[in-house]
Amino acid sequence: MSPHLVRLILAAGVLVFLMTADVFALDNAASTDSFQTQVDDILEQMTLAEKIGQMTQVNAPGSPVPEDLRAALKQGAIGSILNEVNVETVNQLQRIVVEESRLGIPLLMGRDVIHGFKTVLPIPLGQAATWNPDLVREGARISALEAAASGINWTFAPMIDVTRDPRWGRIAESLGEDPFLASVLGVAMVEGFQGDNLAATGTIAACAKHFAGYGASESGRDYNTVNIPENELRNVYLPPFKAAVESGVATIMASFSDLNGVPATGNPFLMRQVLRREWGFEGFVVSDWASIEQLSVHGFTADDKGSALEALKAGVNMEMATTTYADHLAALLEEGQISMQQIDEMVAGILQLKFQLGLFEQPYTDPRALPAVSNEDHLEIARKAALQSMVLLENRENALPLVKENLRSLAVIGPMADDAYEQLGTWIFDGDPAISQTPLQVLRERAGDQFTINHVRAMETTRSRATDAFAEAVKAAENSDAVVVFLGEEAILSGEAHSRANIDLPGNQADLVRLLHGTGKPVIAVVMAGRPLTLGNVLDYVDALLFAWHPGTMAGPAIADILFGVESPSGKLPVTFPRMVGQVPIYYAHKQGGKPATAETFTHIDDIPVRMPQSSSGFVSSHLDAGFTPQYVFGYGLSYTEFSYSEIGLSSNSLALDESVTVKAVVSNTGDVEADEIVQLYVRDLVGNVTRPVKELKGFQRLRLKPGESRTVEFVIGPDDIAFYGRDMKLINEPGDFHVWIGGSSKAELRAEFTVNPK
Ligand code: NOJ
Repeated sequence: MSPHLVRLILAAGVLVFLMTADVFALDNAASTDSFQTQVDDILEQMTLAEKIGQMTQVNAPGSPVPEDLRAALKQGAIGSILNEVNVETVNQLQRIVVEESRLGIPLLMGRDVIHGFKTVLPIPLGQAATWNPDLVREGARISALEAAASGINWTFAPMIDVTRDPRWGRIAESLGEDPFLASVLGVAMVEGFQGDNLAATGTIAACAKHFAGYGASESGRDYNTVNIPENELRNVYLPPFKAAVESGVATIMASFSDLNGVPATGNPFLMRQVLRREWGFEGFVVSDWASIEQLSVHGFTADDKGSALEALKAGVNMEMATTTYADHLAALLEEGQISMQQIDEMVAGILQLKFQLGLFEQPYTDPRALPAVSNEDHLEIARKAALQSMVLLENRENALPLVKENLRSLAVIGPMADDAYEQLGTWIFDGDPAISQTPLQVLRERAGDQFTINHVRAMETTRSRATDAFAEAVKAAENSDAVVVFLGEEAILSGEAHSRANIDLPGNQADLVRLLHGTGKPVIAVVMAGRPLTLGNVLDYVDALLFAWHPGTMAGPAIADILFGVESPSGKLPVTFPRMVGQVPIYYAHKQGGKPATAETFTHIDDIPVRMPQSSSGFVSSHLDAGFTPQYVFGYGLSYTEFSYSEIGLSSNSLALDESVTVKAVVSNTGDVEADEIVQLYVRDLVGNVTRPVKELKGFQRLRLKPGESRTVEFVIGPDDIAFYGRDMKLINEPGDFHVWIGGSSKAELRAEFTVNPK
């Protein structure tokens, strides 16, 4: 029997109803939701042990259900289980609590359904590159349907940590660097998972994570310290969470990280003040895996008891994986360090979700009531998401699309060309590589007998250093009309605890590319990776570069459609790509600073005359070697057509503080291919009580335009869009001058100006 379960059973066995004085006041007014009476009803009947049981989540032990777990379930000592996806076992677990425990409270069954279940969608960072909330919502909807068929009723997604550090392995799970984009897409995910009605068949509870600031882990090293001034926290890192709360996200996960000296899991500022008091969140907070127990490892508490106390005081409703609550809450209550009212408040949030999910009426799962996993519809959504996620970074002399009719042979090279598992990316516990369609498979199908495919894997993994197979790859290239080389990072090189300090293509991939280039054949690189990479050492040796992230199950058809021009690439970067890792953090919405660099004032290290006096080289903010611009800016991505922007106009250029302005511009497809464009709107507030970013995304639209077609796009900027947290940490609107741009990336140049007047 596991020591954790022994403790749970002991706790359940010996505890009786303990009533103590109310030491802490409730943060929220009583919930107005219709389940309040039912929740109160159950709470009244519960023993302290049963309450603490609801606050305890354990990892699934697999099947058959071990006796110790069965006993704990019967005693009501467990409120949730994570990681059980065998539907018979899930139903069995539910049956034990429902039929054999005193109060019959069903279980929350949690799982990390991060970017798909059996059908794997692009990694979230790739989904962010679609800039398509409808598609992202659809992706989450089918993920929920597939997970629900296994009895899962709660996913630990979306991950909406704003991050500006590509070294951080978890950037793969994020929606990128921008608070606005992450808010819109995070909300779309919540809506997709939860639908309109959590009790409906096939909807599951979402969990916005990790609250908060985890994306700013120092040096991109996972679990590392985070220091974010409160003003920056409120303007950059918190908005996606606020948006998720407003969209009705059922749960929030506390972060592993230490925020400004107070670990997030024990941080009352985050979970009491901001989340509950300021935002009125009525759902519940779950810890991260063992993150309550880790409070003492941080040096924030002396022992597990202290950790349970701090987490409870801070407002964590449920403990994941460890048992500090089960072990210590009763004693803390007895000692008067916490109150029954506080415990009730925490338990009520959990019970409420169980009611919202309809679990009391229907705790069991009948997979036949749900669509088959990986059905045609699901695969089609995954294909579309993969297609729209890919970003064309380079396309010299129209190397792409490949013209099938002109091909007699195509070399398909590289470690990612035919790897059904690696193309799925990180966090794919349930993803099924058996249904993956790899690029090689699909290119072979498309080639038919029209042209031959010369395939050489060349490297066992993306990390391989062995070069023995390179000669064969070069020979294949020489014998082909064009080369497509599939590069990148294997799935394991990104994700939790998989940060990198060097974000070049790993292994000997760059050498391989240089050799292929040496053949004189056009070289098309398709890069599958979990993060932005520094690509400087291959860019001179490729004719085109398609950045495909980890595209998931349908990588093959999506890539083939782009390579052969069935569809134009349309993804845009949700995150800046640095030239060199030393530039990190580098992001578009930076502050201007007092000495901004310009092309005129910056001198590159190679151009500095020998013994030049320091004063004449310009005192500007730059790196001598990397300059001051990234390799690719936020919002960038090429297409097979050209788009132009003109005629920007405002409904008014002089506004009152509470007025909105409509901004219009004309977007034209001036090339000869029908394609999607992602139109982006940026704003700059020129002077602020705290300095404002040089540009901030405030709107976007994905449009499809035929060759020669023009369309007028329209955005409304209201007072809420330009409000920001000022020096006193209050959300404010200030009078002053604003610039607004509409364009196809964060480098948009078409600009208008307006003034907000004092009242
Ligand atoms: C740890 C991760 O930080 C979190 O994102 C995840 O949901 C939990 N483990 C559960 O697997």
